[in-house]
Amino acid sequence: MEYHISQVDLYIDEVERALVSRSIDSRWLTEGPQSKAFQARLAVLTGARHVFFAPNGTLALFLAALALEPEPGDEIIIPTFTFYGSATAPLFAGFTPVFIDVDPDTFNALPEAFEAAVGPRTKAFMPVHIYGQACDMEGIMRVARRKGIQVMEDAAQALTVKLNGKQAGTFGDIGTFSLFSDKVITTGEGGIVITDSDEIADRLRLLRNQGRPNSGTFIHPSLGMNFRITDLQAAIGLGQMEKLPQILKDRAKKWRLYSEGLAGVGDIRLMRVLKGSDIVPFRFPIVTADRENLAKALEAAGIQTRGFFYPMHLQPKLRGAVTQSLPVAERLSAQGICLPVHVHLTDAQVADIIGVIRRHFGA
Ligand SMILES: Cc1ncc(COP(=O)(O)O)c(C=O)c1O
Repeated sequence: MEYHISQVDLYIDEVERALVSRSIDSRWLTEGPQSKAFQARLAVLTGARHVFFAPNGTLALFLAALALEPEPGDEIIIPTFTFYGSATAPLFAGFTPVFIDVDPDTFNALPEAFEAAVGPRTKAFMPVHIYGQACDMEGIMRVARRKGIQVMEDAAQALTVKLNGKQAGTFGDIGTFSLFSDKVITTGEGGIVITDSDEIADRLRLLRNQGRPNSGTFIHPSLGMNFRITDLQAAIGLGQMEKLPQILKDRAKKWRLYSEGLAGVGDIRLMRVLKGSDIVPFRFPIVTADRENLAKALEAAGIQTRGFFYPMHLQPKLRGAVTQSLPVAERLSAQGICLPVHVHLTDAQVADIIGVIRRHFGA
């Protein structure tokens, strides 16, 4: 179907083209000067001591999980309301995932839910910062520290999102981001792993570079693989960094327009933002019991919609022998619709989307 309003659209132009051309002209395509420059910009942006790249957000999670060195049977507690990679990456790294439900208002897992799921084999928590706001990391870290549990944050959707002035992904031992095409800034595909721990950084360096501290040697003191990116991706990332202030301003405006236009319409429920958290909308999520019909009305008007995540505990290859019920995530999954927030969406188009929804509910 042809949409006149798409869910995702890239903000990419001559700025990125010029930087990519620089790599081509220099005849250097693998990690090199532009990767170094992008890494330095990301260290400033996040405030993290160590920044590493990975080919995508899922492999960033895999790398981070490997760096926590799970032993067979070690469990990681993960919110069930997330993207599939949040669960499969630690699983492939050797963890056993344990899923918990989320808060109906913020859609993120609460400290109490992590605490209630702790068992004798719990080694790690994985808070996931969903839809552009931060989890209650201060509460989650209090539980984790009290119980001696490591924390890896999935901040795939939360680059630039801060909680009380601190970047999501920097509260725990290790954090990851995605640079996929629908993220705040993108390199097409791309991932980032950050940590303040020198010890974890040493492990990451070896794991991502074939188990050796430097390329050019064939002695590999440690186990590792290749998680490098290309300088072409980094070049695009540097271009995106130039646009970041404008992107953030634009997303803030769209959040305001949607919030004002949809408040109190039909049975629509908007996501509540945790006190102290920024909101840098990844999409604009709404919840309604009439999701099917509303989605049809939007699609009929040429507006591409996206559903919410399907919970991890119900995924065919992840659910246990006995299907547990995690009702909040199940309800969100059945009732959620995401609306677009990309830069190319005009104010008039946001007004159109709001208009279709208001008319649908007779508002
Ligand atoms: C919460 C979350 N975790 C992980 C990922 C995986 O990132 P990637 O698509 O870059 O592999 C995504 C991607 O959308 C995500 O939303």
